Amino acid sequence: MDIQWYPGHMAKTKRLISENLKLIDIVIELVDARIPVSSRNPEVDGLVGGKKKIVVLNKTDLADPEINKLWEQHYKDAGQPYVFVDCIKGKGIKELIAKIKQVMKPVMDRDKKKGRMNRQIKCLILGIPNVGKSTLINTIGGKSTAKTGNIPGVTKSNQWIKVSSDILLLDTPGILWPKFDDEVIGLKLAWIGSIKETIYDREEAALKLIGYLREAYPEKLHDRYKIEFDENTTDLEIMDKIALKRKLLARGGEIDYARTSEMIMDEIKKTTFGKISFEWPMEQL
Ligand code: G4P
Repeated sequence: MDIQWYPGHMAKTKRLISENLKLIDIVIELVDARIPVSSRNPEVDGLVGGKKKIVVLNKTDLADPEINKLWEQHYKDAGQPYVFVDCIKGKGIKELIAKIKQVMKPVMDRDKKKGRMNRQIKCLILGIPNVGKSTLINTIGGKSTAKTGNIPGVTKSNQWIKVSSDILLLDTPGILWPKFDDEVIGLKLAWIGSIKETIYDREEAALKLIGYLREAYPEKLHDRYKIEFDENTTDLEIMDKIALKRKLLARGGEIDYARTSEMIMDEIKKTTFGKISFEWPMEQL
């Protein structure tokens, strides 16, 4: 799914989230492990108010394991509960369920003391488009888990999915909007393939991607295209070398920048380069 955001969505989302929050014990904020900050809206913390929250970093199968370790430390240091998952393979889902119970334990214990037994934990998934919300709901819900009936106060079509005997999940996730006011955030969303191809400059995005890869993953860039470059080579020269290697030339033998950019952006989206992350915690300091 591609991101297309209109200002009107914002108010609607805010309203929906605040209506549903009344029924929720804990928020699961889903982000893309390759860009955990750029794939979230920082307003989420204000929106969820004092609710408990777990950050779930999805698509770990695509992210750089070494950078994942840095993010783990980052969330630990911040005291923010987190879980790494791969929703397609179902990796980390057991850990997520355990984490929900762990985070909610003090509340459940307090309620038990007050005589409120058999209380169920109600969860809501929030995240920007394409982070894997629907996939997570399907994976966590599974085929065997029964959906419960409608609950008053929730949008009629919403239902609760029984995750375990004591955990219920709202079957409709809250859709947040990405924060487009920083050009770099837009670029990163473009690199992971979350923005509609027609709404940004593909050639500029590809050139900046080369600039990022040569710094962060020079070996991968070299190995993929079998090109040589050093610190004196410009990003544009690297693009020229890639085009020449792949014979992406226009009539007259000039470099076809449109096709070269298309090919590079396509390859990064298809993860031909292997596991790559596009931001790490130090950047946030
Ligand atoms: P959303 O509800 O948050 O919008 O996301 P959704 O579940 O629709 O997932 C978006 C895309 O991400 C889907 O690919 C889905 O298969 C993929 N996806 C979800 N979780 C994971 C994961 O853990 N690893 C990987 N590699 N992919 C994951 P799609 O339908 O092919 O969409 P698109 O890639 O063409 O946009």
